[in-house]
Amino acid sequence: MSSSNQYNRLAIVFHWLLALLIILSMIIGKLVLERIPNSDPEKLNILQGHSIFGIIIGLLMIARYLNIKLRGKPDPIDSSGKLMRQTALWAHRIIYLLVFITVATGLAMAVQADFPAVFSGVATLPESFNHLTARTVHNLSTNLLILVLLAHISAALYHQLIMRDKILHRLRWKRMD
Ligand code: HEM
Repeated sequence: MSSSNQYNRLAIVFHWLLALLIILSMIIGKLVLERIPNSDPEKLNILQGHSIFGIIIGLLMIARYLNIKLRGKPDPIDSSGKLMRQTALWAHRIIYLLVFITVATGLAMAVQADFPAVFSGVATLPESFNHLTARTVHNLSTNLLILVLLAHISAALYHQLIMRDKILHRLRWKRMD
């Protein structure tokens, strides 16, 4: 495999860093935030961390998109047929869209609940976020994202383990000659 069959190193860093941050944000959202009432004093710190992670994810997604647009990406892997290539292309587009919607609705909640004032101690959290449409969409887009990411990971593992086409080498730091 030549190095032109691999993503550039910045794209590789963005991919794995985003994977880590998105999975952590989902775990914190689903297993922690969702279960703690807004009246719990602990909630503020966790919400602050979750918001910072979410904003970093949004910025990294923009940087990742620009990096791919400016520097290009490797050709599709030889083993994929036309249908597989189209499916992968659309799966990637849907992942971008869902992450964007999740970050945007998170920010909408932050604006509606005035997080800057809450985090600086000037205001308190609302009783809950349940009445906000942004929260319903945030929850829905996260659930859809979980499904699409599971499909994305399964497809990668199918390539790697069943088709044995070394697809994950494209995202390896080490250059292949
Ligand atoms: C890709 C980035 C993000 C992911 C994967 C994510 C994930 C989640 C999840 C899974 C929940 C629980 C939702 C539920 O089931 O009700 C949640 C809640 C929430 N998230 Fe995010 N989030 C992201 C970005 C953000 C951002 C950027 C902000 C704000 C700046 C934010 C603010 C919130 C708030 C306010 C809640 C509601 C907590 C509650 O209802 O108690 N999120 N998030």
